[in-house]
Amino acid sequence: PPRIFSGIQPSGGLTLGNYLGALKRFVQAQDDGTETIYCMVDLHAITVWQDPAKLRHATRELAAGFIAAGIDPARSILFNQSQVPAHAELAWIFNCVARMGWLKRMTQFKDKAGKNAENASVGLFAYPALMAADILAYHATHVPVGEDQKQHLELTRDIAAKFNHDFGVEFFPIVEPVIEGAATRVMSLRDGTKKMSKSDPSDMSRINLTDDADAIAQKLRKARTDPEPLPDTLDALAERPEARNLVNIYAALADITPEDVIAQYAGQGFGTFKPALADLAVDKLAPINAEMSRLMQDVAEIDRILGDGAARANAIAQPILEQCYDIVGLIRAA
Ligand code: TYM
Repeated sequence: PPRIFSGIQPSGGLTLGNYLGALKRFVQAQDDGTETIYCMVDLHAITVWQDPAKLRHATRELAAGFIAAGIDPARSILFNQSQVPAHAELAWIFNCVARMGWLKRMTQFKDKAGKNAENASVGLFAYPALMAADILAYHATHVPVGEDQKQHLELTRDIAAKFNHDFGVEFFPIVEPVIEGAATRVMSLRDGTKKMSKSDPSDMSRINLTDDADAIAQKLRKARTDPEPLPDTLDALAERPEARNLVNIYAALADITPEDVIAQYAGQGFGTFKPALADLAVDKLAPINAEMSRLMQDVAEIDRILGDGAARANAIAQPILEQCYDIVGLIRAA
């Protein structure tokens, strides 16, 4: 049977990109009845320095975001990565399987390390091996993510295949990336050619799940667009990335297709479309925002949920890790 695993970094807050590209789809997978395991990847977050107090806060707020968006900790396993030692342990094995050349090609490393790659942490370089460990420690089969994680999932497949080949086993599954829906790549509200990101210096470039109704409406009203009205075919948006982005966001929020949005708004200008989008966004996001704040009043309860999730995650991952050690030839006391 399929088993879904995915993760989000607790580095800064959740953006609309995280929500539409990942979190909302995590909830759908859970509600479809698939086995779902979701992780706050705190060990990934520290590949760049994090203020410890802010990291703790961001991890709890991310957990609150998962629950507020509809993740039920009774039906899904919800936990933070560092509480389950199998992630870091399996990552070491994968560090010995992955090749330098594979990791050097990762565009996320190149982007994050910037010009001075010599000064990047070793952890940032090895990041994708830890990500492969996250997934494969559960023998997960499907991984819902946004478009930007596609290359990392290809690497996960390469690592699993090389491990299986090197040891002559069929132990790790070759995972399927699940990159679906209208919002697999939500773009910046200021520049339709750049991904919406929590690290963009301009807060106007993104919608945060912690933004209130006024901020959401203002950011969408000020979103960069061109002066043309919406066309009557989707193809006509190919050269209009900002307009296309807003249509995609509308579709994903409303659970309809971009074609449906075009059918509804063809010929209308942004003076009409933007306020409609703002109303829709506030309608969908305000309840999540309110529930997140409510949950954050009881941090002890969040920590309890994460601890419970970690225990259940560990029960799956630890036996898989033990088998992996055995395959590699590492002695374990009986
Ligand atoms: P992270 O924390 O950057 O993002 C979490 C999820 O949100 C998606 N996403 C977007 N989707 C659409 N439009 C955007 N603008 C946008 N920005 C982010 C990401 O694709 C991702 O699905 N390496 C991962 C975390 C990770 C992970 C894993 C994921 C660690 N281990 C195992 C899956 C499986 C990351 O940095 O995601």
